[in-house]
Amino acid sequence: MKLIVVDDYERLSREAARLVARRLLERPDLILALPTGDTPLGMYRELVRLFREGLLDFSSAICFNLDEYLGIPPDHPESFASYMRRHLWGQVDLRPENAHIPHSLPRDPEAECRRYEELIRRVGGIDLAVLGIGENGHIAFNEPGTPFESLTHVAELSEDTRKAEADRFGGLERVPQRAITMGIRTIMSARQILLLVSGEEKAKVLARALQGPVTPEVPASALQLHPNLTVLADAAAASRLTGSRISRGAR
Ligand code: GLP
Repeated sequence: MKLIVVDDYERLSREAARLVARRLLERPDLILALPTGDTPLGMYRELVRLFREGLLDFSSAICFNLDEYLGIPPDHPESFASYMRRHLWGQVDLRPENAHIPHSLPRDPEAECRRYEELIRRVGGIDLAVLGIGENGHIAFNEPGTPFESLTHVAELSEDTRKAEADRFGGLERVPQRAITMGIRTIMSARQILLLVSGEEKAKVLARALQGPVTPEVPASALQLHPNLTVLADAAAASRLTGSRISRGAR
């Protein structure tokens, strides 16, 4: 594992975008898994800036979102599809047919999970998966207790996760109960993983994920087993990590 600690959110965003950009330049047909949430917003902003400056090209890249809510229309403002359109897909030259996300209103959710998993397999698997982490240790929507061997599946969202989204939806009762998410095995099959963690409220869970026991109770702890993991954290998020393996990153 490579742990890079930067001073603040701005630097984290720039460093994350730089890492993704470097991979895209090396391999224009890169296959990415991409997260939503507040944490990656700065990275997307920076990637869009690099694209606008002519330094980056998404025209051969293939993107898969990690997850999507079930039961709201794809054009609902809080759907992850809308988020991606706002922050990346609509801002760069990614081809629409290469922007993948599970459907939020599938006729058969189980079939949609199989289709998504098969699509990832057919393109040859994920090169780089960028992840955030939930305060309860979830990655994508793999909530505590999800088996490490899980593939793309329908997930029941935990009360904690739904509460964290309540403001965005205008009340807890409006937050979807379920989502489709890549499974832990789907994510762990990525050839490289970049975990982004920002803010003091994530410090406790980051320490549990990286330095606690590997257990399905902390889904992100599975990442300890990944052979090519980079963790990019700001100082606040890294404040509860102990030991000497911390490399200070770009300042
Ligand atoms: C959501 C997403 C995750 C994300 C997490 C943390 O539940 N499904 O992919 O990592 O929230 O979000 P934030 O970055 O807003 O803290």
